[in-house]
Amino acid sequence: MIQVPSHAKINWSLRVTGKRPDGFHDLETVFQLISLHDTLTFRESDRLVVTCDDRTIPTDERNLVVKAARALGIERVAIHIEKRIPSGGGLGGGSSNAAATLTTLSKIFGLQQPLEAIALELGSDVPFFLVGGTAYATGRGEVITPMADAPKVPLLLVLPRQRVSTAEAFRSLRRFSPPLGMDAYGDRANFTNDFEEPVFARFPQLRAWKEKLYQLGATWAAMSGSGSTIVGAFPDVSSRDAARSVFPDVRTETAAVLGGATRA
Ligand code: C5P
Repeated sequence: MIQVPSHAKINWSLRVTGKRPDGFHDLETVFQLISLHDTLTFRESDRLVVTCDDRTIPTDERNLVVKAARALGIERVAIHIEKRIPSGGGLGGGSSNAAATLTTLSKIFGLQQPLEAIALELGSDVPFFLVGGTAYATGRGEVITPMADAPKVPLLLVLPRQRVSTAEAFRSLRRFSPPLGMDAYGDRANFTNDFEEPVFARFPQLRAWKEKLYQLGATWAAMSGSGSTIVGAFPDVSSRDAARSVFPDVRTETAAVLGGATRA
């Protein structure tokens, strides 16, 4: 039996720079691996079977863990997912599970093939989870340059019940942003998320929560990915925990920024 954590991500910044001939969009983003994680347990089995403690998550061929195992040609393993990362929250939970499955099955079965191309076929965010830490990414998100570790600011995640479909969020964009280049992201003033405008228009409560995080002392707050999670960074753990305790009736989680030492 092998247990591995499968961490979530947030986006410090996310610009959608254009639409591509293949139907996907080009991005410029800064990804950040965080401590919030699911746990995957791998056991020997005579067939491929995936289970999950969250009954709302499909465990059939739609599950990215199933797809990842199949993509490697592995059929003799049982994988259990302990879900802590909400799905449809812009935290990359399914993508992270897929990447953790690729790396763990490769180790267990002694596979030699490179994983990057398989990862991208499974989803645009999956390649980042092979790298982790803080990373600048372009293309669909797979052209990745690791960056210096971001400061270890305590994070508060606000996890609204509203789920956002990534495909719908892309369709709702009304304009594209020019890329800034990696060096621009040394300055927090350049952090933006192009999905906030259309998603906040649909769910005004999310904007209110972002503003509330600033009022409660956050030094930075934004939506993660295509939403709906709103993240705040705080100057210290005590101000973060104080903010959490007065936050309205919505699920919250605390998290830490993970450095690149966690890179596989
Ligand atoms: O790659 P992934 O499966 O996460 O993408 C989900 C959907 O989001 C895609 O089908 C596509 O509609 C949209 N998408 C996109 N450009 C990206 C990533 C995702 O248009 N770079």
